[in-house]
Amino acid sequence: MKLWGGRFEKSTEGLVEDFHSSIRFDQRLYKQDIQGSIAHARMLGSVGVISESEASHLIQGLSEILGDIQAGKIEFEIGAEDIHMNIEKLLTERIGPVGKKLHTGRSRNDQVALDLRLFLKNEIDQTKSLVDQLIQTLLHLAEGHLETWMPGYTHLQKAQPITLAHHLMAYVQMFLRDLGRLKDTRKRLNISPLGSGAMAGTTFPLDREQVARELGLDGVTLNSLDGVSDRDFALEFLANASILMMHLSRLCEELVLWSSGEFQFISMDDGYSTGSSIMPQKKNPDVAELVRGKTGRVYGDLVGLLTVMKGLPLAYNKDMQEDKEQVFDAVDTIQKCLLVVEPMLRTMQVHRDVMAFGAKGGFTNATDLADYLAKKGVPFREAHELVGRIVLQCSKKGIGLEDMSLVEYQEVSPIFGDDLFKSIGIQYCVQARKITGGPSPETVAAAIKLSRNALKKI
Ligand code: ARG
Repeated sequence: MKLWGGRFEKSTEGLVEDFHSSIRFDQRLYKQDIQGSIAHARMLGSVGVISESEASHLIQGLSEILGDIQAGKIEFEIGAEDIHMNIEKLLTERIGPVGKKLHTGRSRNDQVALDLRLFLKNEIDQTKSLVDQLIQTLLHLAEGHLETWMPGYTHLQKAQPITLAHHLMAYVQMFLRDLGRLKDTRKRLNISPLGSGAMAGTTFPLDREQVARELGLDGVTLNSLDGVSDRDFALEFLANASILMMHLSRLCEELVLWSSGEFQFISMDDGYSTGSSIMPQKKNPDVAELVRGKTGRVYGDLVGLLTVMKGLPLAYNKDMQEDKEQVFDAVDTIQKCLLVVEPMLRTMQVHRDVMAFGAKGGFTNATDLADYLAKKGVPFREAHELVGRIVLQCSKKGIGLEDMSLVEYQEVSPIFGDDLFKSIGIQYCVQARKITGGPSPETVAAAIKLSRNALKKI
């Protein structure tokens, strides 16, 4: 017998039972469901909709079910459809008819909306602490590489010299923004939809605030239709997760590049690399690649739920049951990725000499040569043109800017003086960029300090 079976003359087709049941995946919400039900039961008792002793029977029964689920003693039933009805059915089987009073003034529509909020709140906290650890590792690495010179790129062509610390600190900024977004989403989701009922609230004098307080929520939703049909909080989480994955993916893409034979900037630790079943020499950055690959899954979860929601009339529609697998998949994916990227970074070996050597080639100091002229009063556009011609000459000869003689420089322009060589030295090019946000070791050291403080505040 279904909990909603009264108006039916025939039982559900077996095929449909299997099709619409969500217990296979929403059993993951058992804890939140029971927490919500306990708060609801306590409130029903305190406002007098049920007696105090009925409330304590319900609470006692629910707590025992929670313990039994945690001890692995419960087998859920597909026929009871979802986690909400499975628990309610178990409760009535255990404590008798009073169990049937639990659902007074409540619908699965507001119940499931609450459960998902509570679930995501906890997962956001877990995710935030994983991002926090990743940032700590990046900050620590950056501290050790303030003077590890490397080429910076645009279009994947050598652009200007920077340091590894500066490069890593770019990711710190991204992950700090990710933390900010998660915090913001958490703040907005932290309210209770209970009391919205199926969609039009309830005539029972429920104390919605009491329930919210007991569950650690900051308030209650203000429209019963929105209360049951809003999944913005899940979408926000999926959007945050997608952006976070995009950052991880870009980082991993760089690790893949840097560990290639062509770059050789880093070596991955053996523990975070895998071999080939045929090519004995191979050591592949599979872990980094897989993080890059899993990014697509999380985008899929976001686009999936956006698509589920886009055509839904108010208020609850069964389509919304599809929210859970997408949220669960994204939660599992980002947490696993964060968990593996942090030690992968921590254990990689940095080849400082190769990086420093790479910082030199490719005319990475050409901008500095143009700036040298501009500082002597040559309009920058003219300086750019002159240096462009020098670069062309040098590249034909297969030499760098620092290999030309002063006499050759002065043939191009009499403005060049002996001091030009100092200003195109790779280290000088980096050290002179003391502007806020720039790569000079002291600026990056200051950025590390500021970022550490920012991290404490999130
Ligand atoms: N299992 C459902 C879900 O996840 C619970 C809400 C069902 N409500 C309903 N009226 N069918 O969305």
